[in-house]
Amino acid sequence: MSKTTVSAPANIAFVKYWGARDLDRALPMNSSISMTLEHCVTQCTADLLDHAGEDEVWLAEPDGGFGMPDPEFAKRMRQQLDRIRKWAGRTESLRVATRNTFPTAGGLASSASGFAALTLAAVGAFGKKASSKELSLLARRSGSGSACRSVLGGFVEWAVSKGNGDGDDDSYARQIADADHWDLRNVIAVVEIGPKTVSSIEGHRRATTSPYYTKRQELLPERLDRVRRAIKDRDLGALGPVIEEEAVDLHLISMSSHPPIFYWSPGSIAVLRAVRELRQEGLSAYVTMDAGANVHVICDADSEDEVAERLEDLPAVGFVIRDGIGPGPDEETEHLF
Ligand code: DP6
Repeated sequence: MSKTTVSAPANIAFVKYWGARDLDRALPMNSSISMTLEHCVTQCTADLLDHAGEDEVWLAEPDGGFGMPDPEFAKRMRQQLDRIRKWAGRTESLRVATRNTFPTAGGLASSASGFAALTLAAVGAFGKKASSKELSLLARRSGSGSACRSVLGGFVEWAVSKGNGDGDDDSYARQIADADHWDLRNVIAVVEIGPKTVSSIEGHRRATTSPYYTKRQELLPERLDRVRRAIKDRDLGALGPVIEEEAVDLHLISMSSHPPIFYWSPGSIAVLRAVRELRQEGLSAYVTMDAGANVHVICDADSEDEVAERLEDLPAVGFVIRDGIGPGPDEETEHLF
């Protein structure tokens, strides 16, 4: 087995990974729970090179061609390929190319889908099979911790507690319910396109400097319980308020870190207001946000059209991406090269 192409989806966290005990290995301070998306995916093709040397890494360009990633990102990709090569007990170099079906680096978790896809494609190119636990561990070690949730579909928990899930070999994600369990939708209001000014890695680094960080840790066990229960009961009225608390908390911590990070833009506020108005009109829709200005609106299938239309009408919204819960990564027959 050599040339392998995989698509791996982005995920949106209901309870956020924010702050790490060991940032290099992406060992988080707290558990997180996410929903895996269906349409926002990274495709990655990996193939063995017939000559020794540095791994070749390519990213799709908007015009359909391929270009070199920026040096920092290329380094992270090569480091991950090295980890997988060692894990697979192989020596060959790889050529890899990746393409996102959605705008990169706009707080849309492109690193999570990107590193999950890179990991799965490289494992396949080396002809290895692995359990989802092992794949999740490998994806997490890329340094993009949330990638460990993108190797699974449906609703996913990356659990950590003291003495459980806090070591390198047991910090991985598990599925808590599959995609058929609950047809939730995620309407993404894109208010800012382009790379965010402060990376998630830097955000994790600064998180513990916020005076509110300890308070958040105290609140999390109960919040995690509420999210698990709401997913089990398919209860959006119970899930929504918790995910909004969580999103606000992530940004509260960021804004009060030293030095502070402001991810929100005026467009984010406009969307938050519009979603509150939609609720007053009787729709069940709730927001969450990652480390960026764009807003993810979680709603049920019946409300999706109206939510999307209303958000599209807002002057602050550039465009809307409609997504929903997805079954997780897939192997593809069409290769990128
Ligand atoms: C706010 O370190 O996994 O999305 O490498 O940028 O994908 P990227 O970030 P990572 O941190 C994720 C931060 C978050 C919350 C979450 O997804 O849990």
